[in-house]
Amino acid sequence: MKRIVILGSTGSIGTQTLDVVAQHPEELKVIGLAAHSRIDELFAQARAFNVRHVALGDERMAETASAEELKNWIAQTNNAGSKARTSSLSSALSWVEGGRQGTVGFGADAVVELAQLPEADVVVNALVGAAGLRASCAALEAGKVLALANKESLVVGGDLIIPLARELDQLRRANGQAPLYGPAGALMPIDSEHGAIYQCLLGEDAKTVSRLWVTASGGPFRGKTRAELTNITPAQALAHPTWNMGAKISIDSSTLMNKGLEVIEAHHLFAMPYDQIAVVVQPQSAIHSMVEFADGSVIAHLGTTDMRIPIQFALSYPQRWSAPVEPLDFTKLGTLQFEAPDTDTFRALALAYHAGEVGGTLPCVMNAANEVAVAAFLAEKGSYLGIAECVETVMELHESQGVQRVESVEQLQAIDAWARQAANSYIDAQAN
Ligand SMILES: NC(=O)c1ccc[n+]([C@@H]2O[C@H](COP(=O)([O-])OP(=O)(O)OC[C@H]3O[C@@H](n4cnc5c(N)ncnc54)[C@H](OP(=O)(O)O)[C@@H]3O)[C@@H](O)[C@H]2O)c1
Repeated sequence: MKRIVILGSTGSIGTQTLDVVAQHPEELKVIGLAAHSRIDELFAQARAFNVRHVALGDERMAETASAEELKNWIAQTNNAGSKARTSSLSSALSWVEGGRQGTVGFGADAVVELAQLPEADVVVNALVGAAGLRASCAALEAGKVLALANKESLVVGGDLIIPLARELDQLRRANGQAPLYGPAGALMPIDSEHGAIYQCLLGEDAKTVSRLWVTASGGPFRGKTRAELTNITPAQALAHPTWNMGAKISIDSSTLMNKGLEVIEAHHLFAMPYDQIAVVVQPQSAIHSMVEFADGSVIAHLGTTDMRIPIQFALSYPQRWSAPVEPLDFTKLGTLQFEAPDTDTFRALALAYHAGEVGGTLPCVMNAANEVAVAAFLAEKGSYLGIAECVETVMELHESQGVQRVESVEQLQAIDAWARQAANSYIDAQAN
C-alpha cells in the first residue's frame, strides 16, 4: 500500500489521480490533499477519500468565515473524542468525527509541509506553475517519491531537483526500496510524453540513445499563419483538439510553449542534450513519444489519450496495474500523421529551446514571463501573439543583465519575482 499526498487535487490531474486511487484501493491510500482556493471541492474530496490532512495555498482562505470555523474545529479535534459541527462546513467535517486528528493548513508553507508529511510515501505534484518548485524539492528532501505533473518545477529548478532525485535514488537502492532492475523511481514523470519516454527506456542502456522524439498534437491552431492568430480569443485557445486539461496548460499547448517546457523537462529527466531532443507534430496524439537508438531503431509508446494511464504508471511503477481505459483500436486509428513544428509562427517553442540551451536562470525567467502573459491573455488584458512577444522581451532583458547559475530555491524565487514584474510592465506598456 502506497500512501500518497496529492498537491493540486482539485485540478485536472488531481481529480484524475483520485480516479486512479478509487480504482486501486488496495494499492493506494490518499493521506493528504492540497488545492489553492476551491475549499468546497477540497473538502468534498477529503470526505470522499477519508483524508485528514489538507492545505489551501491561498492564505486568504483562512480569513473566510468558513475557514475560521475550520480553525476552531482543528483546535477542538486536538482533544480526543470531541466533535465539531458547524452549519457551513458540517458536510466537510463529518469525516473527522470520532476524535481522529486532522490538520488544515493555509498558505504556501502549508502546501510545502504537506509534501513532507511523515507518513507519506509518494507526493503527486499537480500544482500549476513555478509555485510547485518548493513542494518538488521538499518532497524529495523528505525522501518521498515525487510523481511530477508540475513540469514548471523542472523547467525552473531542474538543476536543483535532479541532484535531489539522484540522491534519493541511491538511498532507495541502499535501503532495498528500489526495484531490482531499471530506474530506482524517486522521480516519476506524469506528463504523458515523459512517461512514454520513461517506458521506452526501461531495460535500455541510456548511452545507446541517440535522440528523444517528443510528440506534439500541434494544438488548436496547427497550420494557421501568424496573421490568422492576431485576434484569437481565450475561448478559442482553450479548445484543445485531443486533451482536456487545465486552463494554463491548454493555452501553453496552443502556443507550443507547453512543448518547449517539455523539451526542457526531457533534458533534465533523461540527461539528454538539446540537440538530441526533437519535437514532431503527431496530430492524433496516439504516439506519446519515441526514443531513437544508436542502431537506428525507434521505440514508440502508444495509447489512448487518457492522462489516467501515465498517472497510474507513475504510481504503480515498477508494477503495471489494470486500468479501465478504452484500449487503442488500431483498425479505427487509420492514419498516423507527422509534421515538423512551425517555430516561426509558434515562437514559444524556439524561445524554450534557446532558454534551455543557455540554461541557468533563463528558463526560470521564460517560465515566469509566460505565466504572467498567459494570465493576462486569459483575463483579456493581453493579446494571443503578445504572449510570446512578452516572453521574448523579458528573456532578452535578463540576458542583457546576465544569466546566473542556479544556486538555490530562494535565488530562483527572486529571479521569478523580477521576471513577473518585467512581464507585467511589458503588458501594461502594450495596453497603453
Ligand atoms: N491537465 C493535464 O492533462 C496535464 C497533462 C500533463 C501535465 N500537466 C501539468 O500538471 C500541472 C497541473 O495541471 P492541471 O491541468 O491539472 O491544472 P488545473 O486543472 O488548473 O489544476 C491546478 C491545481 O493546482 C491547484 N493550485 C494552483 N496553484 C496553487 C497554489 N499556489 N497552491 C496550492 N494549490 C494550487 C489548484 O487549486 P484550485 O482548484 O483551488 O485553484 C488545482 O487543484 C501543470 O503543471 C500542467 O502543466 C497537466
